[in-house]
Amino acid sequence: MKCKHINFGFRVPGFLLTMSGFWKPGTERPGERVVLTGDRDEDDVLLAAAAGGYQSGYMNLQKQRNRLPIHKHRTALLYMVETTATVIVIGETGCGKTTQIPQYLCEAGWADGGRVIACTQPRRLAVQTVAARVAEEMSVSLGAEVGYSIRFEDITTPGVTKIKYVTDGVLVKEMMEDPLLTKYSVIMIDEAHERSIATDIVLGLLKKIQRKRPELRLIVSSATLQAKSVANFFDLSQERKIIAQTDKMPNLKPAIVSVQGRMHPVRLYYSEEPVENYIRAAVTTVLLIHKLEPPGDVLVFLTGQDDVDKTVEMLNDEAENLPRDSDGLFVLALYAGLSRSDQDLVFSSAPRGKRKVIVSTNIAETSVTLEGIVYVVDSGFSKQRFYNPLTDMEALVVSPISRASAMQRSGRAGRVRPGKCYRLYTENTFLHEMDAETVPEIQRSNLVSTILQLKALGIDNIMRFDWPAPPPPETMVRALELLYALGVLDTDAKLTSPVGYQIAEIPLDPMISKMLIASASLGCSSEALTIAATLSVQSIWLSSRGRQKELDEARDRFAVAEGDLVTYLNVYEGFVKSNKSPQWCHTNFVNYQAMKKVADVRAQLRRLMQRLGVKLTSCENEMEVLKKAIASGFFVNASLLQETSGEGNIYKRLRGGQELLIHPSSVLFRAAPRCVVFHSVMFTGNNYMRDVTAVDPGWLTSVAPHFFERKKLAV
Ligand code: CDP
Ligand code: MG
Repeated sequence: MKCKHINFGFRVPGFLLTMSGFWKPGTERPGERVVLTGDRDEDDVLLAAAAGGYQSGYMNLQKQRNRLPIHKHRTALLYMVETTATVIVIGETGCGKTTQIPQYLCEAGWADGGRVIACTQPRRLAVQTVAARVAEEMSVSLGAEVGYSIRFEDITTPGVTKIKYVTDGVLVKEMMEDPLLTKYSVIMIDEAHERSIATDIVLGLLKKIQRKRPELRLIVSSATLQAKSVANFFDLSQERKIIAQTDKMPNLKPAIVSVQGRMHPVRLYYSEEPVENYIRAAVTTVLLIHKLEPPGDVLVFLTGQDDVDKTVEMLNDEAENLPRDSDGLFVLALYAGLSRSDQDLVFSSAPRGKRKVIVSTNIAETSVTLEGIVYVVDSGFSKQRFYNPLTDMEALVVSPISRASAMQRSGRAGRVRPGKCYRLYTENTFLHEMDAETVPEIQRSNLVSTILQLKALGIDNIMRFDWPAPPPPETMVRALELLYALGVLDTDAKLTSPVGYQIAEIPLDPMISKMLIASASLGCSSEALTIAATLSVQSIWLSSRGRQKELDEARDRFAVAEGDLVTYLNVYEGFVKSNKSPQWCHTNFVNYQAMKKVADVRAQLRRLMQRLGVKLTSCENEMEVLKKAIASGFFVNASLLQETSGEGNIYKRLRGGQELLIHPSSVLFRAAPRCVVFHSVMFTGNNYMRDVTAVDPGWLTSVAPHFFERKKLAV
């Protein structure tokens, strides 16, 4: 639908297109402090608080820092950290938690004497952008006094770096080498409300460390958090075993600091009827905002990269049809796998006279600061991981968000001035159908990597680990089973030597790590390294937007009957032969940035393998051994062909027995190998296997004899 055809009061089924049609009287009035209905307890988020405006750009950075809401709490915060073991800081997004608290600590001397202040983030993009910002505020170069570390990228200087931003996953990895994290004086666990697996693990482990290192200070910070439950979790004051308290000891009862924000009111608009297609509804809403509302940027929340790309494309098409005299739209996508230059665009301002529209996944909900957003369009959905221990299948599923998420999303509209949030769902859905809080990821995920990490950290009794939220016991049993089958754990559930210890050190999915270890004895570790590195990037292909046919043809040029993983190997070899040429990538529809990353990750893995004493050998063109190495890692995902059909061949997974199809993007989509192993499953209507390799079913019994009984395979 073209914007110019939209009239006031025009309706499409299930969606009212007038602005006034969205508004639900009684939600709030500008200038009031409003607590949203539905979540009335003490930990409510204040969505709106009328106070003086906040400007950026004109003041120098120091003045900007002093104007942040958290600045008023500087002294109190520092006093709390000085005297208390754990401080919980609650303050809305943008108030200055992530960028300021580590600087205050540094100024107060917490990084003196070679000590380091760490701040964790669940997302890599947030780690990078925040570290860059703080380096700028402190006028130091990134990687010197202020640095960051994410998987495969360590931008710090030992002995120099005082403030270090890390993903929670990296912090867990660091514990393997330094179990008490002795170099850190203060560790701030940020965005704790997101409850990612790694955050929960870090919280559990830090509690353990605190018992042994009472001088370590923890800060748990978040925009929306059940502060009391975190405070109870970290309350060590009742524990008698802890080293006797002396005058120097911090108070072991956690303190809570609440930062009053300076948010502007956000007016909420609900869809009057359920929305059938949130992408179309989002596009229509953005066009209406553009047509009817005064200047101000728009932030649209969708679910995943595919949704985001589709919406950006539709908005760009519509933008071309806008009347010539009207101001244009500047539409940008935001998701985790974005290249650095695309990231920079998102944070820069729109060309003069244009309205910036950022179409984002959940990533913009809390972890990054976007200036200038006045309008938020919330689809009400996000992509969430769900694991079923009975079938042992994990899938990313588009699911309704929680009320806490919805409030957080709408809050993003009130940073610069009073804003508006258009919710593409009904008020009834918000009040009665959405859960109050998002279920912690640890309770809905496969825990193979997590349990391996805990084992490697010497936590033998997984069931009795101090989980902030305990995962289902079935999930833990499933994980232990697989780790045993991979040869990582022995019958006493202890790490095996050397394989278990080696696999625990490799920062990859244990199935991929097992493939690497197996490849060494099979004589193909050089090839397996390349494959492992390619699996660490989202895709090695250029985005196919509108050019699917060309991409398919390019892929076919590299395709081999062995499957996707060996095809990636071909692409990488072509890339190396071209001298890593960007031009070669362009001609072959290969993503140059991704390939550079693959080469970098490969080099790091290679060093790690050498350190672990794993032999590096090449099988030249002997593909059988490589396929065997792949089978040794991915046997748990073995699936047998059941039925061929024009629509897609149907496979059945040996473990669990689910029906699966090969994803259309796989080079084996049209082939019908009798037995395959895959790396992941994507659910889009059907369960689709991705990164598929054809294997000989006979191998399965030899690589994991206890896992497959011979009779099962006689199909
Ligand atoms: O962590 P929290 O959401 O409380 O705020 P923050 O990330 O520390 O951001 C504080 C302020 O710094 C924001 O209000 C932005 O004005 C600014 N900031 C920025 O301009 N660019 C960034 N990359 C990060 C923060
Ligand atoms: Mg933050």
